[in-house]
Amino acid sequence: MPQAPEAEQVFAGAPRSSSTMDQPFVTILPSGARQEFPPGTLLSDALLDMGVAMKTPCGGRGTCGKCRVRIEDPPGEVLACRTPVTGDLAVRAEPAGPGPDTFVPALGPDSRIAAAVDIGTTTVRISLADITLGASFEIASFLNPQRRFGHDVISRIASARDPSVRDAMAGLIRRAVRLRLGNALAAAGRTMGSLEAVAFSGNTTMLYLALGLDVKPLGRYPYTAGTRDFTGLSAEIAGLAADSPAQVRALPVLSAFIGADLIGSLTLCHDAGHTRNTFFIDLGTNGELFCLDNRGRIFATSCAMGPALEGMNISWGMTAEEGAITHARQTTDGLSRDMIGEGEPAGITGTALIDVLAILLDRGIVSCSGAFSPDMDAMKLPAPLKPISDEGSRALGLWGAVRLTQRDVRNVQLAKAASLSASWFLLHAADVRPEDITRVCVAGALGEHVDMGHFRRLGFIPDFPNAVFEYLGNTSLRAAEQACLDPGFVQRAGTLRERAREVVLSEQKGFQDMFIRSLGFPAG
Ligand code: FES
Repeated sequence: MPQAPEAEQVFAGAPRSSSTMDQPFVTILPSGARQEFPPGTLLSDALLDMGVAMKTPCGGRGTCGKCRVRIEDPPGEVLACRTPVTGDLAVRAEPAGPGPDTFVPALGPDSRIAAAVDIGTTTVRISLADITLGASFEIASFLNPQRRFGHDVISRIASARDPSVRDAMAGLIRRAVRLRLGNALAAAGRTMGSLEAVAFSGNTTMLYLALGLDVKPLGRYPYTAGTRDFTGLSAEIAGLAADSPAQVRALPVLSAFIGADLIGSLTLCHDAGHTRNTFFIDLGTNGELFCLDNRGRIFATSCAMGPALEGMNISWGMTAEEGAITHARQTTDGLSRDMIGEGEPAGITGTALIDVLAILLDRGIVSCSGAFSPDMDAMKLPAPLKPISDEGSRALGLWGAVRLTQRDVRNVQLAKAASLSASWFLLHAADVRPEDITRVCVAGALGEHVDMGHFRRLGFIPDFPNAVFEYLGNTSLRAAEQACLDPGFVQRAGTLRERAREVVLSEQKGFQDMFIRSLGFPAG
């Protein structure tokens, strides 16, 4: 059953006995593995550090119930994401095995293998690439454990000013990646030592934080990325043993704001023959955009969209895990939904959020300003929608306990305004009109395929009347996979990077005005 949001639990744990210091111990049963943590560490973080690949698909808001664990001493069940460790406690959990968020690929015993890692601001995804077959398999997707240091690029940079925090952040990613990779490889009968290569992608800040590089220059004027190419990295950077034979590399970055994810996606588009009159947007916590004009010139920019479309900052948002509503559509009887798994829904993904909002706009339940209709209580709403009160504010009940609040709609509007205003400034800098664009590529780790009609209805990007629209999925991860499979990919990416011109939004006159004008949804 989905759990209503709970107040943070104060779990005292057992009286101090085994540790003479102030640090409480967490013990995992039945293995007996023990580790001490600073008081107040969230149990979900502690378990991750100890090698338990626990799911936290609602980002720790206490809504999805997926992090529920059994405490043996003292006995009881708790949500690990809402439980600070303040005293010794013993938890029943299995550190071994592939883990709930890890897919086990069918690798041949003689296959040459490599790993691709996309470090998103909110979500990390990992693939294993079978070099022999030229194929890749996504094996794991999990929330970036660095989220505890801030939910966006700016707050992560601020946290990492302290070198010890920066090291801790790098360690978190390495352990989390090693855990999933090691578990998937073990389940497939292989070892970490059999990896020939590991390739990383991500925006510049996430890449620097994973590689343990100083991010301070990325966050202050003149915002420089001192390191733009990453080859011959040490195996330990990827969480491998120092004597691992794996070649560790990352896709090149252009600048502090134009990262490996965009350059990798640009290379994929070029490899697919899309070299002119193309508009690309990667919808994530950090939005990445590029535009190719009719001469093949490349213009690129990025914007801060916030994590709403990845299911975070949304009351009942979650990633695409068991219990997640992934799509919604209108039927003659009301609204129907797609959901992963059986039973009661536990939350809603970014793709379903786009569906629901487009339908609400079409039916006048939400206005173009983003406000719930003042007549909502008197309206005949399609089942199962119902007006409810959420802590004194108006909200809309969706399915089961899942609801949509006015604040949720506002967070989508902020993401939409960031992406639309960035799009207009990019087109302006490239001197390209929307009608000149013949192909629009939409990418992002939204969970499931986006309904392009609903996506366009919300106005995240200008209307491109002559374009074919295409959803490409997670192009950052695909690019990291190609960096494993195609020996010339990184070099081609570097060449394209040199041709790209950056459009720095903060230098554009009138950006704030454009952002505010972009907050509203288009009229139907
Ligand atoms: S309830 Fe803990 S992660 Fe969702």
